[in-house]
Amino acid sequence: MSRWKRVLIILGSVAAVFLAAVGSLFVVLWSGAEVSTVGKVEFRNELKVPPLAKSVVEKDGTRVFDLRMQAGTTEFEKGTKTPTWGFNGSYFGPTLRAARGEKVRVRVSNALGEASSVHWHGMHVPARMDGGPHQEVAPGKTWTPNWKVDQPAATLWYHPHPHGKTEQHVQRGLAGMFLIDDARATALKLPKRYGVDDVPVAVQDVSFDGAKFDHGKVFLQNTGFLGERTMVNGTLDPYKVVGDELVRLRLLNASTARIYDFGFGDDRDFALIGTDGGLLEKPEAMKRVQLSPGERAEVVVRMRAGERAVLRSFPQSNYGDGFEQRFAGGDDSFDVLELRAAASLRKSPGLPGALGKLEVPQEKDSVRGRFFGLRMSGINGKKMDMGRVDETVTRGTAETWTVRNEDGVPHNFHVHDVQFRVLAVDGKPPTGALRGAKDTVFVPGGSTVKLAMRFDGPADPDTPYMYHCHLLYHEDLGMMGQFVVVEKGQQAGRPAAGDHAGH
Ligand code: C2O
Ligand code: CU
Ligand code: CU
Repeated sequence: MSRWKRVLIILGSVAAVFLAAVGSLFVVLWSGAEVSTVGKVEFRNELKVPPLAKSVVEKDGTRVFDLRMQAGTTEFEKGTKTPTWGFNGSYFGPTLRAARGEKVRVRVSNALGEASSVHWHGMHVPARMDGGPHQEVAPGKTWTPNWKVDQPAATLWYHPHPHGKTEQHVQRGLAGMFLIDDARATALKLPKRYGVDDVPVAVQDVSFDGAKFDHGKVFLQNTGFLGERTMVNGTLDPYKVVGDELVRLRLLNASTARIYDFGFGDDRDFALIGTDGGLLEKPEAMKRVQLSPGERAEVVVRMRAGERAVLRSFPQSNYGDGFEQRFAGGDDSFDVLELRAAASLRKSPGLPGALGKLEVPQEKDSVRGRFFGLRMSGINGKKMDMGRVDETVTRGTAETWTVRNEDGVPHNFHVHDVQFRVLAVDGKPPTGALRGAKDTVFVPGGSTVKLAMRFDGPADPDTPYMYHCHLLYHEDLGMMGQFVVVEKGQQAGRPAAGDHAGH
């Protein structure tokens, strides 16, 4: 054997050993990456229903709420104290509720040791009231936004939005629901007794390291934190006793990165009645509804006396390639909530045939288009800059925004202040839960969505609204841009670059 041959054989076997090691490491990671709690959850804890926030109505009709961001500890498991953050409590927050046409004011005080903000996700509000990174509240300070509610009945939510730290602040527990009522929805025969047959279901994924939350990032995945189990309204392994034939669930994906595909364990149909921005025009029978972070869906499920039905999140197949499918959570499944029907149930009237009226524009209403290419490294090649206005839109006009996932990592797209109509997904008309008013939409790897939205103002050239990926790790990395609403012919101003000493 020549010397060269011997060297080659040695090098070859070293390479083979190395590849085998890498290969088996990959197999271990691959099979370890799948998470499932299906069939393993004992549903030991009664579902907590967030209390309705107290409010006072002032002489001029303004409804005033108080929200206090505070630190504390929460017993998710009896006897185990987890350090958490919450609004008016140690974890999560009360449900705010107001009607269309009402003026509201919220006194937001910050009792945390660091700046945060509170954003009204899905709400049509003046830019200065929006609660994004331009309206941070310093520790010890109070911020008091006010606006007039002017949008259809809907399930909205609120959460912090501080520059670069949104994932952390939401993960620690700061979030809550904000329900809007209107006369039309109130007159409908829908389940509407809060916490009884109309139940908020905010789903978050968590992991624990002893008593503490474990927010560590899983190796090989790029979506941000994915937890190994779920909780609802801050309740681990929850069950809910129900006493009515029809139960309405207001589903909110309040997780920071995880995408769910909700359905029931026995594959029963449910009626989808609402999406992010409010009620659909008519109920639609479905078996699954997929929600990426920030999205909502209102569903009505029919129960039989004495039975148990499990709300489950099923494996999904639209994450892009097999790598993302496995490592970004597409293969994962969860038993989320058990509904326990009482031995005898109150009769519920059948669902109305007609529900809401969509107020989102059509494609023909739009006066111009814009394009947004999504990559983890930024939107349209740019990282978030608080001092830069990326887009300037004219008050009172509608536009068509085309959003494309350009790097294959799961992303979604959320626009502040507006609700939009999904015109097309990969050139095809939207189906199911994409047919209602939306403010957040999943944009899986390789896909393109087209959205129509109207900017009703008021104009404020100096104060931007945000658009961003709502996988909060991505948002914090800089997958966010800013737009201002101006009067026709007006120029964008210069927003403050922000004072972010400390991060
Ligand atoms: Cu739910 Cu910009 O936020
Ligand atoms: Cu928002
Ligand atoms: Cu993203």
